[in-house]
Amino acid sequence: MRQNSAPIAQHTRVTILSIESSCDDTSAAVVRDGIVLSNCVATQEAHRLYGGVVPEVASRAHQANIIPVVDLALKKAGVGKQEISAVAFTRGPGLLGSLVVGTSFAKAFALSHDLPLIEVNHLQAHVLAHFADAPKPAFPFLCLTVSGGHTQIVLVRDFADMTVIGETLDDAAGEAFDKSGKVLGLGYPAGPEIDRLARSGQPRFPFPEPVVPELGFSFSGIKTAVLYFLRDQMAQNPKFIEENLSDICASIQHSIVTILLKKLRKAARQTGIREIALAGGVSANSGLRAALQALGEKEGWKTYIPAFEYCTDNAAMIGIAGYYKYLRGDFCGQDVAPYARGFSGASES
Ligand code: KG4
Ligand code: ZN
Repeated sequence: MRQNSAPIAQHTRVTILSIESSCDDTSAAVVRDGIVLSNCVATQEAHRLYGGVVPEVASRAHQANIIPVVDLALKKAGVGKQEISAVAFTRGPGLLGSLVVGTSFAKAFALSHDLPLIEVNHLQAHVLAHFADAPKPAFPFLCLTVSGGHTQIVLVRDFADMTVIGETLDDAAGEAFDKSGKVLGLGYPAGPEIDRLARSGQPRFPFPEPVVPELGFSFSGIKTAVLYFLRDQMAQNPKFIEENLSDICASIQHSIVTILLKKLRKAARQTGIREIALAGGVSANSGLRAALQALGEKEGWKTYIPAFEYCTDNAAMIGIAGYYKYLRGDFCGQDVAPYARGFSGASES
């Protein structure tokens, strides 16, 4: 069995089949020589009914989706199984039951085709999604990773050398969007809907900013502030939400974006780094994208935001991260187990 060794098969081209199943998207991709040939995602709609991701439902849906999604990714890429050089998969962090499905599939596929196996950290992959397309950031760069489960500022020195220099103490930025949206009666996930509504609103309702030392974040206060604000307003005017929905959404979005960018600016000034990247599902937010660009121009940064399909969870980013691990000969054995938490892999699992 191939394990932690330099690549044995000398493929003229390196073709990675990659699998992502950390939350509620089942995804497979084919990446050849660092270029994405296909990136297929089966999004699980069932969770909308529950207003959030239900782990058991997610695991079952991954089981049902994984084989068709992998078949589709290979077909779209026009790649046969015999052309694959290695299988990369998300080892963690994420929902354990979901990760087990992708991990087991990747192991079984690698074993049956005698291929090396590459474990990938989901958060590092979000950062490396920037290498799927040009323009690519130059090392060292800072990456603000903002998703439904994480909010981090990462100092990226190289493909394999990343340090989290700031992160949330409680909720993630995506959770702040989703939970505030729930209070407003919006569907799950509420981030994209708040973004859409905010476009026609004004941020005229101020929500208090949390005081968090250094490069830390806190987002748990926002939903509570929104809840109490709406309760007080509705007591005076029962139609307050429907009459002011766009302005409320613009205010929530403005608060979250302001918190994120203040800490990002602090990190950039502290480190002296001007290559600044954005990653994760919340980087799809139009207010955040526009504000980052404006701040970047003011601060003299070069800013990078991946294409939308590489912002939310996808296997292409796993394949890109896997490709650079392949070049380093960084493989794992069949005894590898998924982990629910941690940034850099087994040592923090
Ligand atoms: O990275 P991702 O797809 O999955 C996780 O790893 O969590 O991020 C999902 C999060 C959700 O909280 C969703 O509401 C948020 O990204 N999101 C947005 C937008 N699109 C997705 N939040 C604000 N504005 C958007 N346009
Ligand atoms: Zn993610």
